Formats: sequence, structure tokens, C-alpha cells
Amino acid sequence: MSEPVDGVDPMQIGSLQVPLPILCAPMAGGPSTPALVAAVGEAGGLGWLPAGYLTPEALEDLVTDVEERSARPYGVNLFLSGTESGDDTDGAVQAYVEELAGEAARYGVAPGEPRFTDERVAEKLDVLARHRPAIISFTFGDPGAAVVSRVHNELGVPVAVTVTSATEAVTAVASGADAVVVQGIEAGGHRGLWFDDPSEPEGGPRTSTADLVRAVVGSVGVPVIAAGGITDGATIGSLVELGAVGAQLGTAFLCCDEAGTAAPYRRALLEGPYVDTVVTRAFSGRSARSLRNGFTERHSGAPARYPHVHHVTKPIRSAATAAGEADDINLWAGTSWRSVTAGPAADLMARLTAELTAGS
Ligand SMILES: Cc1cc2nc3c(=O)[nH]c(=O)nc-3n(C[C@H](O)[C@H](O)[C@H](O)COP(=O)(O)O)c2cc1C
Repeated sequence: MSEPVDGVDPMQIGSLQVPLPILCAPMAGGPSTPALVAAVGEAGGLGWLPAGYLTPEALEDLVTDVEERSARPYGVNLFLSGTESGDDTDGAVQAYVEELAGEAARYGVAPGEPRFTDERVAEKLDVLARHRPAIISFTFGDPGAAVVSRVHNELGVPVAVTVTSATEAVTAVASGADAVVVQGIEAGGHRGLWFDDPSEPEGGPRTSTADLVRAVVGSVGVPVIAAGGITDGATIGSLVELGAVGAQLGTAFLCCDEAGTAAPYRRALLEGPYVDTVVTRAFSGRSARSLRNGFTERHSGAPARYPHVHHVTKPIRSAATAAGEADDINLWAGTSWRSVTAGPAADLMARLTAELTAGS
């Protein structure tokens, strides 16, 4: 769908115009597929492909796939690598490896090697310059003016930066960002914090999505996209009232038919037995909101060392997924996860649009 929808203002970010103010969040690690990105675009929203953890070659295959499925605009999200944090001088990562050895053995695997990963942002931008994403976003920091200018000059598309405070938003805009994705404490998955403060249990400020939209709209002059805990059209409408141009939903799309969410993860969202979410570093070494399961409860003291811990736990998470054992999987989910439904993405988009227009 490319026409405007009655009663809904199209979402405008620089030169990009999208009929509906509904964005499907980039969800790395499997849930976001080209089919999901394309389906959301075809329904009048904006799908967003995650490039985190991927090689540039794998990213090229995925953007090609999206473009073969749909001519609608789509976004691409890049993780910033941060800086190599050096040796494990305090031994915290090694201690965590030892803590996990018994659990890994239960699945017949060993914990992975702790290591830093370079997200190869420059090479991924080379790939994207050969394609036609409509917007590029960055998560886990400030991409800086040089990278933002490169996207503007070589791709000719707007740049969005994920922020978790008004201070981060002001810095992102000073670097040239054309939009900010404000991620509230309710959000599922990794917090977009620029600095995951080890002295803070949840890594940093606990500002709600609505409060953050208010604060950021009042602090910067660029379009603000709201993210975190949103699963219905009425909430999207209320955030637009507060000044957001649109809302980015992740968890709500996890059980769509087109999503690549693993079967035990889907079952946990739709059928239980979990009752709560928690911000945890147990899986990756970076604060992220997951359903509270056995793994988050047993490893609440995991070190703040990302992506080293991500690599350490990966064999356990993969084996648990293959075994259908949700208790040892990172079940990223926002606080509104109980509203998640299964079915085609087009049906979810239709429901969100109906709820949005009902309030207009
Ligand atoms: C499974 C999952 C994976 C995610 N992966 C990414 C990612 O690759 N890049 C990113 O910027 N945000 C990622 N996020 C966070 C989302 O962009 C978004 O902030 C969040 O889903 C919003 O909260 P909600 O899940 O309550 O809708 C992920 C979230 C989930 C649930």
C-alpha cells in the first residue's frame, strides 16, 4: 500500500514518506526476515532489516531478498562495534565461563570463546550504497559526523540514531542525525544505551517511552520515533499526540508468520509459562529485556562485557533452541509482551491501523 490512509497523517522523515506511522523494529538474531520487512512495507508501514552480527556478504543477500520481494521503502539498522575493551583483567568473563560450564555440558557443548566482534560498519555501508534502503539507523552509540555524512553523500538517505535519553538525542543531532529512535525502558531486546553502566542494574536511566518522547521532542528539532512496550494502535496514537512521527514495534511482530522467531521462543510468548520480564546481562553482557526465565534468574550477576558474553553463551542458547528448551534461551520481550498475537503481519498491521484510526 502506498496511498495515504484516511484519518492518518503519513510519516515524514526527510525525503522519506510512509503512509502509516508504524515501523517494525529491526530484530537481530533471527526474528526479522526479508519476508517480515517486505510484508510490513506492503501493508503501508516501514520494515527494518537488522545488520547486527551479520557479515557484509550476508547483509547483501538479505537486502537483495527484501528488494526482490517488495519495492516499498525499508530501513537497515547497524550496530556500532564500540571499542575493544582489552583483556579480562579482573577475570570476570573467565569466571562466567566457568559458571556456565555445567549448563553447557548438559547440552553436550562447551561455552564459546569470549571475543570482541568488529561490526564492519564501513564495509556494510559499501554494500548498502549498492542497494536502495530508504533510511539507515545506528544502535549502541553515536555514529559521528563522518559516518553520517558518508550515508548522506553516498546513499542519499536519512540517518536515524537510537537514543535512551535527551542528552544522547542532542549529541546524535549534532552529529547530523535526521531522526532519533527513542527507546524507553519498556523495550524488548537490548537497551540502546550508548554506555551500559556496570554500576546500574539496568545499565542506565529507566525513562518510560512516553516520558522520553516528551523530553526528546522538547530538546531536538528532528523527527522522533517512539519505541518500547507498544503493541496497540491507541498507544501509537497517543505517542503521535506527544509529538512522535511514528512508533517502532518489535515484540508485537515476534509471532507473525513471516518472523524467523524460533519455535520455543514463540511458544514461551504465546503460551507461557513465564510471567514477567527482566533487564539482564546474562545472555550477552549488555543490558537487554527478556522474559524472566531460569537462565536470567541463575545468572543475574553476569559481567557487563559485550559482545564477549554473547559469544560465551551462544553455544548454550543454540543448543537450547534446538532442544526446545526455552528456559535457557534469550527470550527478548518488551513489557507489553502479553498482547502478542500470531498470524500474518498484514493482519497485525490492519489491526493496529484500525485502532489508530478509531481514536482519530
Ligand atoms: C528480538 C529482538 C531483537 C532486537 N534486535 C534489535 C536490533 O538488532 N537493533 C536494534 O536497534 N534494536 C533491536 N531491538 C530493539 C527494538 O529495536 C525496539 O527498540 C524494541 O523492540 C521496542 O520495544 P518492544 O519490543 O516492546 O516493541 C530488538 C528487540 C527485540 C524484541
